[in-house]
Amino acid sequence: MSDNLNKIIIAIDGHSSCGKSTVAKEIARKLNYIFIDSGAMYRAVTLYCLRHNLINNGIVNIPELRASLGKIKVSFRFNSETNHNDIWLNGENVEQEIRLLTVSQNVSPVAAVAEVRNLLVALQQEMGKSKGIVMDGRDIGTVVFPDAELKIFMTAQPDVRAKRRFDELTAKGEKVSYEEIRDNIIERDRYDETRQESPLRKAENAIVLDNSYMTREEQLDWVLDQVAEI
Ligand code: DC
Repeated sequence: MSDNLNKIIIAIDGHSSCGKSTVAKEIARKLNYIFIDSGAMYRAVTLYCLRHNLINNGIVNIPELRASLGKIKVSFRFNSETNHNDIWLNGENVEQEIRLLTVSQNVSPVAAVAEVRNLLVALQQEMGKSKGIVMDGRDIGTVVFPDAELKIFMTAQPDVRAKRRFDELTAKGEKVSYEEIRDNIIERDRYDETRQESPLRKAENAIVLDNSYMTREEQLDWVLDQVAEI
């Protein structure tokens, strides 16, 4: 009997900067599943737009972006040094660069473009064909894998999320203020929840995980308990 028969799809959606990827990565490691950070794909397309002047003052040149989509190749490649699936853009590892605050500040309007979503959703669905995958994002349980066996909707209070992201970026040496990070988080939530294309919302059968006051271990145990129940 194929091993895939026992494997499931775990969809983790939720608000910006609440640790979805961290939890998803750890769950994938525990279960020996593939981990895919779908936000990294939207960030890579945004990086392409920034490099090719397709965004000016936060406004995306949508006709130009549509015309360029055939030239944007986004993929994941396993990095054996970090044990992580790094994101590559047109033959270049951009795993670090896509995390810069300038990318965070410009990603929302790019992720709202229907053609961008269609392209990336098709790639994501292909990656989940054999199951055994943990994917995090905004529309994974609602659009990408509506039949996922386990759907989790993660959230945390905005101040808690901003503090975590501030610590993370300053530890990497980025010069950022707490206020601009908090503003960006609140603005991205608003944008993600109100956009027309695949807005962020909790799938009907998703279970909510508010991790404002939970440690990483507690979150991991919580998710593993949900997996065990399936
Ligand atoms: O998870 P993240 O913060 O790295 O995602 C970056 C942006 O991409 C986020 O502001 C919304 C968008 N996104 C999306 O629209 N759909 C997804 N499945 C994942 C991310």
